[in-house]
Order: sequence, then C-alpha cells, then structure tokens
Amino acid sequence: MAAPKDADTLDSKFYKNADSFFTAYPNLGLTYDDVTLATLYSEVLPGDTQLDTRLAEGLQLNIPIISSDMDTVTESQMATAMALNGGLGLIHYNMPEKEQLNEVTLVKGHVHGLIQNPAKVQPDQQIGDVLKLIEQKRFAFSTFPVVDSEGKLLGLLPGHVVKPRYSRKKVAEALTPRGQVQVIYKKELGRDPIARADKFFTDHPGIHKLLVVDEQERLRGLFTMSDIERINQERNAQFKPARDSQFRLICGAAVSATRNAFGELDRNRILNHAEALVERGLDALAVSTAHGHSKGVGDTVKMLRDAFPKLPLIAGNVTSGGGVEYLADCGANAIKVGQGPGSICTTRVVAGVGIPQLTALYVASRAAQKKRVTILADGGITKSGDMVKALTLAEAVICGGIFAGCPEAPGEALEISGKRYKQYRGMGSLAAMKAGSAARYGHNSSPVSKIAPEGVEALKELTGPVDRVLAQLIGGIQSGMGYLGAANLSQLREKARFIRVSPAGQREAAPHDVVELKTSN
Ligand code: XMP
Repeated sequence: MAAPKDADTLDSKFYKNADSFFTAYPNLGLTYDDVTLATLYSEVLPGDTQLDTRLAEGLQLNIPIISSDMDTVTESQMATAMALNGGLGLIHYNMPEKEQLNEVTLVKGHVHGLIQNPAKVQPDQQIGDVLKLIEQKRFAFSTFPVVDSEGKLLGLLPGHVVKPRYSRKKVAEALTPRGQVQVIYKKELGRDPIARADKFFTDHPGIHKLLVVDEQERLRGLFTMSDIERINQERNAQFKPARDSQFRLICGAAVSATRNAFGELDRNRILNHAEALVERGLDALAVSTAHGHSKGVGDTVKMLRDAFPKLPLIAGNVTSGGGVEYLADCGANAIKVGQGPGSICTTRVVAGVGIPQLTALYVASRAAQKKRVTILADGGITKSGDMVKALTLAEAVICGGIFAGCPEAPGEALEISGKRYKQYRGMGSLAAMKAGSAARYGHNSSPVSKIAPEGVEALKELTGPVDRVLAQLIGGIQSGMGYLGAANLSQLREKARFIRVSPAGQREAAPHDVVELKTSN
C-alpha cells in the first residue's frame, strides 16, 4: 500500500525531484553535502537491491563503482580486485605504453584463486636461506616450489624439511622431485579453474597445494586448498565478478590526446596503442583529460570511434551540457563528469574553474539523456552517502581517494609515527606530471617545472583490502536505496527527491555532541 495522497502533496512542496530541485537553483553550484535525499514508502529491503549498471553496449558492471585512472590508484592489482567485486578499474597511462599493455594482460589473464607469481626457491640455496626468507617476508607457510634459473619446475620443498636442524643442507638434497609432485598444465584448467582445482583437492586427500605449469614445464602458478575453499564459500555472494563473454575479468585503460613534436595529435601512436590494447581484450578505453570539451579530445574520440566502431569509449572530463553533447557527438558512450571536486585537485584554486559536483552532474545528466549516453560521477566522493546522491544522476561513480589506501593500490606503505600510509597524488601534481601525465592537463611542449600544477601530493592512511572497502560502500548504497524504495539503480534515479541542507543541518548529519570511540567504518 502506498502513502496517502495528501501527504504526497505536502511532501512534494518540500522534497523535489531532480528537475524541479536543480532548476530552482539556477545560479548556485551545489555539491554532495549541500543536499540530502528524502525517504519514500518502501517495500524494498536493502539486501535485495540490484546494483548492476550498463555503461555502454558491451560494458555492463555488477556494481556501479570504478577505480580512477591515477598512478597511485589503478594498476593491474587494483583493476583485478575491482572486477572481482563486480566493478571496473581504469589502468592509468603514466607509464610506458608497453607496461600499460602488460598491466591489462595481467588483469585479462587473471585466474581467480591462482597465485600467479608464488614465492619459490632455487636448488642451490640452503635450507637456512629459506628460513631467513620466511622470517624476512613473514610468510605464514614453509612449502615452496623449486625452480631453475629459467623458471622450470624442479620439485617441491616440503614444509617438514624447512627446519633449523637441516640449515646447511641444500634445497636440491631435500626437495620432492618433479616426478613425484602433482601438477596440472595451464591449458587443462578450462573455463572453471576453481572447479578443476576443487576436484583435484577432493581426489587427492592430504595434498593442499596444486602447482600449475606450462608446456615447457615452467611454473605458472599455484592453487592452495584454503583459497579454493574460501572462494567456494563466497560463490553465493550477491555481486558477481564483472566478466567478458570469454569469462575473463573486465578491464579498462586510459589514454590521453597525445601530441607529436609539431603539436599535432599523434594519430598513429594513439591508434597503434589502442589497437594493441584491444588485442589484449580491453573492455573500455577512456580518453582521460582535465578538459574534455576541447578539439584535441574530440578529435581523439572521433578517430578511436572510426577505428573501433564497437569498443566502449569513455571520455572526459566535462561539467556542462555542451561538453556532454560534444563528446557524445564525437562517439563517446560514457562521459566522465567532474572538474575540480577530487580530494587531491586544485583546478578550482589554480584556474578558478570547475563546478560543484551535484550541479555539474544534474546538467550533464540531462544532456546525456538527450544523447542516449551515460555519465560517470568522477571525484569528490568520500563516503557511501555521496555515492547514493551521485547515482541519482549518474550511471556509475569513479573514485580515487577512497581506494588509494588499499594494499592493492600501487606503491608500498610507509610508516610515520606508528601509523601506516600510502602515497596519493593528483595526476596534475608536479610529481605526476614529471612522470608523464602533463598531456592530461593540456601541457605538451613546455618544461614541466614551468607548468602550474593542478593537484597535490598527499598521503592516505592504509585501509583494508578493496573487498572490505567495497563491502562497506555497497552496504551504504543498498541502504540508501532501501530508504527510497528503489529496487535497482534506474528506480533510484526516478524516485530521488532532494532538499537543501543548511549549515546547521550539515552539522546535524554527522555524529555530534558525543565523544566518538570508534568510527562506523
Ligand atoms: P577523489 O576525490 O576520488 O578524486 O580522490 C579522484 C579524481 O580526481 C581527478 N584528478 C584530478 N583533478 N587535479 C585535478 O583537478 C589533479 O591533479 C587530479 N588528479 C586526479 C580525476 O578525475 C580522479 O578520478
């Protein structure tokens, strides 16, 4: 039973749908904390809500979350974790093109549960060396594959010989030789490697590790029984990994509108690289720049669209209806919206340009509807509530800072005064531009030291792994949808009703007048 009509009328005076709400503030840039969403009668339980989203023909995610193409956020490890959780990672381009190809190959070749580069030892090492390795790396296991200098499998060093009493013995004397070790050839893994490994462990009681080799007998990975058991338990998870038609994880990558020494668009270079990415199975190519409503970006998108008629193309960034229409006309399927909202951005400070994110999303979303393209809310998201608000207007969100503290983000953690951090920097920061991202900000020929940076270098406190961070965010999105009676994301976009929040209302929204002992996440 729905709520009575009178109440509907009273509510609608205060709580407006997106069109009535945003057009009532034509001269005001609003962002996430400036508004809140009104609850609605609901028959929807948060846990039953669906989060799948279609960004383009052939690009479907099971959760509407994308990790940003930044050099302190997304390389293969992050992109793999995102896809395993149903989302997408965009591999950044602040690296040589060959390396970017390699990163994409690692994601596309990922076999769930397979440790692709397991710790191994060599036959001429002593058991004492192995004991030191375990201590240094804090390994919780002591069984190691033994390989020669070419990576060929020679046998397995069993944990029961990795003891101080055998310290002086050579690994070669203590290993179980290849002939007595159970292995599987990589090509035998088939479409469902987990099921294959699971069957193996059932058929071989007492064996907890299964080595994978290629036809040249080179070690290609390792399954452990405990990983397989954990994955089987997780199989009933609500949000499945995002895969392509060949059951591989999906992966995106970013490119810029690179120019040659004469300042012209480097067509050959961009096209050759895009072709190599597509050959490796890339699922979405993002033309990622700070100013997407520009000739260079438009020409790049047009050229890629002509060369790859079916490839899902993401392009940006823009904050205007004109920008969305321009990129859509050039052939983009999904448009990145956001100029200056990011946690490490200084574009608005340095250039005095950019639009608060919710207003930008509203304007962009109406242009996108007209052009039948989708929009991605890029930057400025610090909590799941922001995601719910963004998803009332956009088909997915792109996040940098939220994932930069995860172990899957590039770079090592560093310790300062007992706390552990990871580096997080804007792609327009001086350091990132020196490492190659200057083109993203429209700088190609001038020496980087003379360019005004549009981003900062920062630290993020080390968080838990991506799985855990995403579980919290997804829980928050589902909770928001439950409050609005939205069973899926298109219902969320239809049903959302907004109201502005006063500064006192903002204070009220966060914990107040208490001594907080523990934050909720
Ligand atoms: P969050 O808030 O998730 O933002 O950390 C990530 C997004 O910020 C954009 N980005 C930048 N914007 N200067 C900018 O003005 C920069 O140096 C910069 N680096 C990244 C980008 O859209 C990213 O997804």
